Amino acid sequence: MISDKVKDILNEQINKEFYSAYLYLAMSAFFDDKGLYGFANWTKVQAKEEVDHGMIIFDYMVDRDTKIQLKQIDVPENDFKSPVQVFEKILEHERYVTSSIEAIANLSLDECDLATRNFINWYLKEQVEEEKNATDIITKLKLFGDEKASLYLLNEELAKREYHKHEYD
Ligand code: FEO
Repeated sequence: MISDKVKDILNEQINKEFYSAYLYLAMSAFFDDKGLYGFANWTKVQAKEEVDHGMIIFDYMVDRDTKIQLKQIDVPENDFKSPVQVFEKILEHERYVTSSIEAIANLSLDECDLATRNFINWYLKEQVEEEKNATDIITKLKLFGDEKASLYLLNEELAKREYHKHEYD
């Protein structure tokens, strides 16, 4: 049985994952408005993956017969300046999410909830990839500076990202 403390932190994490989807969607709209359709695609695919992250926790809680308490989703930032600024915000946000996931790992251990501790491993691994993705794109953006041809090529690269439903394994 999941304790009240673990139940609360998992409910909060569902909210954070759905907020993440909102944030990435706001970023996608910014890129779309600037004609950077590859960047818009990349962030929109990420938004869909964030919904998957939220749903995987939702399904886990249902499986464990734990009360779901959906909360209000905050309004995300809607005003951005440049691609590099957006990806720096993504990295900052993903580091914050990583700390939330680590808090779940630590709390589930404190509560002797080994099933949740095991469940959250998937998210720990996922966060390594999410931080790496943002870091790699920041590196490329900084390397190219304001060169339009390079930005065009990166835009083409990010246009290739495809959405695949994230499954828990
Ligand atoms: Fe679901 Fe980007 O963390």
